[in-house]
Amino acid sequence: MVDRRTPAGHALITGGAGFIGSHLVDSLLADGWRVTVVDNFDPYYDPAIKRRHIAPHLLHPAYRLFEIDIRDGAALEAALTDDYSVIVHLAAKAGVRNSLTDPLGYQMTNVIGTQNLLTFAYKRGIKPFVFGSSSSVYGECPRLPWRESDLGLLPINPYASSKLADEQLGYVYAQTFGLRFVGLRFFTVFGERQRPDLAIHKFARLMLAGKTIPVYGDGSSERDFTYWGDIVAGIRGAMTFVIDAHQPNYALFNLGNNRTIGLLEMIRKLENVLQVEAKIDWQPWQPGEMRRTWADIDKAQQALGYAPATDFDTGLARFAVWLRQTMLIEAGAH
Ligand SMILES: NC(=O)c1ccc[n+]([C@@H]2O[C@H](COP(=O)([O-])OP(=O)(O)OC[C@H]3O[C@@H](n4cnc5c(N)ncnc54)[C@H](O)[C@@H]3O)[C@@H](O)[C@H]2O)c1
Repeated sequence: MVDRRTPAGHALITGGAGFIGSHLVDSLLADGWRVTVVDNFDPYYDPAIKRRHIAPHLLHPAYRLFEIDIRDGAALEAALTDDYSVIVHLAAKAGVRNSLTDPLGYQMTNVIGTQNLLTFAYKRGIKPFVFGSSSSVYGECPRLPWRESDLGLLPINPYASSKLADEQLGYVYAQTFGLRFVGLRFFTVFGERQRPDLAIHKFARLMLAGKTIPVYGDGSSERDFTYWGDIVAGIRGAMTFVIDAHQPNYALFNLGNNRTIGLLEMIRKLENVLQVEAKIDWQPWQPGEMRRTWADIDKAQQALGYAPATDFDTGLARFAVWLRQTMLIEAGAH
């Protein structure tokens, strides 16, 4: 297991205004890190939400924000002139379903954008690079739970294939250009600040508004839901790992919870925490959707000291409290 007491340094975080990124920034600032964020406040979901996430960060003297699009490599190189001890690359187009209708947009942000960050890191001699990948790279990989050593990954949507391409670009930069690259395969992250397009958040708002929720297929799909706090702990472990020159210069880790929840079970639990009954609008199965995701987390446990600490019910209860507070703030803003 790596020593997780890496001294605070200067982290460059892309996507630091988003759901996972803003929680990571909270954690780093609290531990004395300097943090520089690159985010273009992409309009995939309301940028006002991201502005709310970063409002406290803007008041912190160790925080800097650059509103730059990662597709613009020259802008990155011109603006980012400090020395960074590690890059954590989380900026991406993130929704699976949206990638079916905008495959080129996903290639541009997720693949060209990642290429730009890797080029920047190489030119500037910044070796430690942590990348936010996704469980969706496994796609239809038949053996469950999924392990990092599984071969024959079979992504089934453009988002997933863009993330797999990024992992491979990372390998090129580790083997040939001397970077130290860790790819973290996040499994359906949930909790406070969750993206509004993700099922728990989307369903909760529809249910509280008394509207129907669309359920695709027969409701038997399963997800390995992972609380954001566990993901942030895993990213912090990976930062230490990638800074430590004694560790391998390329590694992939699953960050999941190692437990699956069925879609209907998730809806029942949501009814319980929100105290409203769900009205289901059954829809045909969607191509590109995965039936089941399930992480084997042994490798991350051993190498990063990763140990998920928040179970689904606890995380969901916290999400429900946060959502009600957020909806009050939104109502006041209108
Ligand atoms: N949330 C999950 O369940 C989940 C699961 C697997 C992987 N991931 C990955 O984790 C990362 C963070 O996801 P999230 O859920 O916090 O998403 P998010 O959309 O909340 O955060 C992504 C951030 O990237 C920014 N961004 C998008 N395009 C950009 C561009 N061209 N230039 C600069 N910034 C840009 C967005 O404005 C946003 O703030 C993503 O790479 C995503 O693919 C998330």
